[in-house]
Amino acid sequence: MTKVRVNASRSYDVRIAPGILCLIGEYVRRLFPAAQKAAIVTDQTVGALYAQKVSESLAVANLLPICYSMPPGEASKNGAQYLSLLALFAQDHLTRSDVVIALGGGVVGDLAGFAAATYLRGVPVVQIPTSLLAMVDSSVGGKTGVDMPSGKNLVGAFHQPSLVLCDTNTIRSLPEAVFRDGLAEVVKYGMLGRPTLLNRLTVDFSHAELEPIIAECVTMKRDIVQTDEFDTGERMLLNFGHTIAHAIEQLSNYQISHGFAVAVGMAIDTRAAVKQGLCPPECLQVLTRLLKRFALPLETAFDAKSLYDAALADKKRAGDEIAIVVPTALGKCELKQMPVNDLLGWIEMGLNP
Ligand code: GLY
Repeated sequence: MTKVRVNASRSYDVRIAPGILCLIGEYVRRLFPAAQKAAIVTDQTVGALYAQKVSESLAVANLLPICYSMPPGEASKNGAQYLSLLALFAQDHLTRSDVVIALGGGVVGDLAGFAAATYLRGVPVVQIPTSLLAMVDSSVGGKTGVDMPSGKNLVGAFHQPSLVLCDTNTIRSLPEAVFRDGLAEVVKYGMLGRPTLLNRLTVDFSHAELEPIIAECVTMKRDIVQTDEFDTGERMLLNFGHTIAHAIEQLSNYQISHGFAVAVGMAIDTRAAVKQGLCPPECLQVLTRLLKRFALPLETAFDAKSLYDAALADKKRAGDEIAIVVPTALGKCELKQMPVNDLLGWIEMGLNP
């Protein structure tokens, strides 16, 4: 088992190992001796596979598991679903000494985390990410929230989990496209600061090698979150490709998944950076090779003006400026403050190969 300790406003462990899901009861009981109930928030797909196992482990540890299941997919990450979850918590008399367990991918983690952040002004949450994307990124660092019709993740809160359990066996049950979706975020970490990770991705890797790959991403995220938990500086680097990605997701009505959109966003930002002389062409070659290797897209059918209009709601915008993450060397990215008016030209440059 790999353990990564995160020391943010709350300190917690990220534990990564095959089969670790069955130990959830033991860990929760150790962390919360007074807890009586465990609210398992999941979706119908993940719940059918793992809710029983998680419930049994919690029950053995003398916790009452209560399962809340929602339809799978980004469409569930909305205000109505959030409010109905809170209503169910209240109806089941969850108290501050109880625990919320987020069992699923990024949608479940963000929604359950936000419900935990706000119910009774905050109850503990344990994240059990079951997708590669959620393991390497969204379950760690305490970002929680829901989407608004005008943009992704526009409402939310920072609420660090008390524990993150990554059971690498759950990755075996992912549809191939969902697995590749997570690989886009792994490539992002390579581009941000881990040339060794980029090398590792250029050769075939086995399922067993996913544990060190996940650990490398989580360690990198941990280091950034410990420096800038509340996303006012360095943490914004984790949004490489995300301004355009969120626009693509929104314009596609969330039919294009997050990782696929991030792949396109990284390609657009890197092409624009190369054209402006900010980035050596080698970066674009390495990124292109990896994205193609994982059958991830490099292009979008949306035009520059539509992407620009959708991107204006981005959280990294401050007044008339927006922070764009620019690759400047292999394994290195920097934040570039850009007048919002220049973003259209940037996107146009990046759209055309
Ligand atoms: N997913 C980006 C962050 O956690 O900051």
